[in-house]
Amino acid sequence: MILFFSGCGNSEFVANSLATLTDDKSYRMDVTDANPTFQIEEDEALGIVCPVYSWAVPLVVMSYLERLQLNHTPSYLYLACTCGDSVGNTAEHFSKFCSTLGWKLDFVYSFIMPETYINLKGFNLDTPDGEKRKLDAVRQNLPLVAQRILSRENGFDVVKGKLPWINTHITNALFYKLLITDRKFCVSDACVSCGICESSCPLHNIKMKNGRPSWNGNCTNCMSCYHRCPKNAISFGKATTGKGQYFFGHNSDA
Ligand SMILES: Cc1cc2nc3c(=O)[nH]c(=O)nc-3n(C[C@H](O)[C@H](O)[C@H](O)COP(=O)(O)O)c2cc1C
Ligand code: SF4
Ligand code: SF4
Repeated sequence: MILFFSGCGNSEFVANSLATLTDDKSYRMDVTDANPTFQIEEDEALGIVCPVYSWAVPLVVMSYLERLQLNHTPSYLYLACTCGDSVGNTAEHFSKFCSTLGWKLDFVYSFIMPETYINLKGFNLDTPDGEKRKLDAVRQNLPLVAQRILSRENGFDVVKGKLPWINTHITNALFYKLLITDRKFCVSDACVSCGICESSCPLHNIKMKNGRPSWNGNCTNCMSCYHRCPKNAISFGKATTGKGQYFFGHNSDA
């Protein structure tokens, strides 16, 4: 069984592809479910697929896994994380978290995918060429990673980047404390009240009021609402001005 969380579709694509290639099934985590429950077979593998947020597995994913009721401890556990460029010590950090659940994390792989975080100065989307190069590499690597999962490989094969410990432990804590907020989201007159932002929010944090989205304080800055708006009517303060939009499959070449 594969459980995935995805804001902008990269991790959803990886989860569904791995499910096809390993003859498994993928399920979206409903991270708002107070009592998520799944049944697995005694010898079944469990795959967790999600983006990396500030060099760690997103807090909403870890909190979901703490609530998850499974009838068996997974006999093989892997994490396939997606990132823009590096994951720091995500694997070691998540492995420790898994042991608090009584699980052993066997295998971790990081897929480098198009960037979705643009909420700070200097953080930009990939160029169209860069996006294509990343997605071509992911498509090439997926069957190889699937084979490694099927052979129940052990180990962490990830791109850590610079200062991995500092990023996963210090920057991550500051990121959640200081930067994760929905108070900076605004909507312009370009909004056509289609409701896509509301229906695509994985935290059900957006409610339409008088034909416009309103944000309700339970946001993890996945950026789905911003990137999927067909009119580019959503902005995050001034940080997103002129930066464009990306979600997996936004163009037919994806
Ligand atoms: C809040 C947030 C934090 C992110 N932090 C990182 C990071 O620490 N390292 C990185 O390489 N990419 C980072 N990214 C980029 C995403 O991990 C990457 O684009 C991922 O594939 C998005 O997955 P999704 O489309 O399934 O949401 C971040 C994106 C967001 C929205
Ligand atoms: S997705 Fe964009 S156009 Fe549609 S309701 Fe939301 S802000 Fe308005
Ligand atoms: S409000 Fe927007 S950025 Fe926040 S969790 Fe929902 S879709 Fe993601």
